[in-house]
Amino acid sequence: MSAGLKEKIVTSRIYRNYSRMWPYVKPVWFRALCSMLICIPIGSLDAVIALALKPYMDLVMVEKSISSPWYIPIAIVAFTSLQGGLKYISAYLTTWVGNKISNGLKRDLFKKLLTFETAFYDKRNSGDVVFQFNNMAEGACSGLLSNISIFLQRIFSSVSLIFVLFYNSWQLAILATVVLGCALAPVAKLREKIKAVFDKSVIVDSAIITEYNEVFAGNKTVTSYNLAKKEIAKFNNILDSIFKLRIKITQRTQWLSPMMHVIVSIGIAGAIWYGSHLIMTTQITPGNFVSFITALIMLYTPIKSLGNNFSAVQLSFFMIEGVFDNLELEPKIKDKENAIIMPSEYNCIKYNNVYFEYNPGVPVLKNIELVINKGKTVAFVGNSGGGKTTTVNLLPRFYDINSGSITIDDVDIRDFTLESLRQNIAVVFQDNFLFTGSIRDNIMLGKEDATCEEFEKALQMAYLNEFVQTLPNGVDTVIGERGILLSGGQKQRVAIARAFLKNAPIIILDEATSALDNKAEAIVQKAIDNLMKDKTVLVIAHRLSTIRNADIIVVINEGQIVEKGSHEELMQIENGAYRTLYDMQFKRQEGVGV
Ligand SMILES: Nc1ncnc2c1ncn2[C@@H]1O[C@H](COP(=O)(O)OP(=O)(O)OP(=O)(O)O)[C@@H](O)[C@H]1O
Ligand SMILES: [Mg+2]
Repeated sequence: MSAGLKEKIVTSRIYRNYSRMWPYVKPVWFRALCSMLICIPIGSLDAVIALALKPYMDLVMVEKSISSPWYIPIAIVAFTSLQGGLKYISAYLTTWVGNKISNGLKRDLFKKLLTFETAFYDKRNSGDVVFQFNNMAEGACSGLLSNISIFLQRIFSSVSLIFVLFYNSWQLAILATVVLGCALAPVAKLREKIKAVFDKSVIVDSAIITEYNEVFAGNKTVTSYNLAKKEIAKFNNILDSIFKLRIKITQRTQWLSPMMHVIVSIGIAGAIWYGSHLIMTTQITPGNFVSFITALIMLYTPIKSLGNNFSAVQLSFFMIEGVFDNLELEPKIKDKENAIIMPSEYNCIKYNNVYFEYNPGVPVLKNIELVINKGKTVAFVGNSGGGKTTTVNLLPRFYDINSGSITIDDVDIRDFTLESLRQNIAVVFQDNFLFTGSIRDNIMLGKEDATCEEFEKALQMAYLNEFVQTLPNGVDTVIGERGILLSGGQKQRVAIARAFLKNAPIIILDEATSALDNKAEAIVQKAIDNLMKDKTVLVIAHRLSTIRNADIIVVINEGQIVEKGSHEELMQIENGAYRTLYDMQFKRQEGVGV
């Protein structure tokens, strides 16, 4: 690709991203405009000091015609104070506007994040999500706005100072401007040099967040396997990578400022040399010269740091590009255009010749055929990794199937709105997620507007009453992040109460495999029995009682249904999969009366 074409693509991309920024800037446009306009006086006031030096030099130092130039120091202090006040307002406005814009972006990014299907989360780690959906929005806006503001202030400052240069001596001014041009030239090359390093730093910045999250969530595993050393080594590796990238960015950008420094000093040296000649030949006054040199130093100072300013602006550009790339992502599972509301009254759920794969070319479910009539209980059993969880996950569309169809009363579930489909299904997972907050908060998630009676009933049906009474604040006891303060069985029952309150006609239940003690197990079982009453239930069963009472038992091995029927029917099959499984796993339990 030619350099010109590449440049064009980059420019049009930047333009597109900026035009896409407009909806976020629009609500705050007035303050945004003020924050930019205020840069004009801030920048221009720089010229006042330089300008004031000419009459001071000429009238006081050289001609000694004014004995007490009281107004010049006062004017300098007054204008500088004014400039200081304006700078404060400018900082306030850019922070205000920048945060409003980044909040708008973050809100939309978060909304977008919640539309993604399960597979999106499967493929990412938490650090990526936090970095790309939060930190990048932050960096994009706050960094950009303050940098644009600084940039504008410097532009106006430069324009006014260049005016002072020309006012004092056009010959010297031309010399200074040429040097200025040379100093600015390398800045243009900087973008590509930073981009590659930036892309890598996104990866390691995400990795460090993931590391913190994993150490937090997996602290028990870390402790019990004595993984501290290993985690520290991993952390050190990430820190080293970050260190190397930071150094690389410095190597690629920080040569700019010192180089400009040198070019600028050549400019100043040239001005002094040529300026002395102009004074000697009385083409300019000493006042002109001092005012000129002051303006020149003031002009070059911001230009010397323009390299830093420019690389910061570039980083903001990359972040904006990243943010809009994320906003452009479309969820793969979403409502069809003419999606209909799923009725809560229905008769039959059917899996028709369903094929599914998580990764292309690796089929996980093959030819699943299943009919589940209203009010019936289907129990899924089979080898670990056989595809039980996957089969039930397809019904609420956590994943979409590859071929075949799943229908409810002959309507494909993909024709229903996701919201109505999921409203009709309550899921109790193998490992239930509880949110930070109280037991009440967590149960009420099932139905936000539940009445006190409904809530009490859910509590009772999940056999939580007795336990809750022992807590200091009853149902309002805070249970910690992920419900950490509850036991496994208690957590399960909170999840069951939540599902109970939702009162959906279809229940999906992934029974926890982790063995609870007999008493806890019996209580959870009773709670589950209550939840299943009068519902259509898809249960991945590990408990013998659940399996025996199911209307249909489906044995899934290696992604295929190998047997289907009632307990009695399946036990009739000599060397059948269910019978073998039953003999292996359940006979012993039955013998001890569980
Ligand atoms: N998110 C995923 N991405 C890729 N592969 C997956 C994913 N989830 C499960 N699998 C794979 O799909 C297959 C079926 O997994 P599934 O969780 O459905 O088994 P299961 O029958 O529920 O097992 P278990 O009884 O151990 O819970 C397994 O080989 C598993 O490795
Ligand atoms: Mg499973």
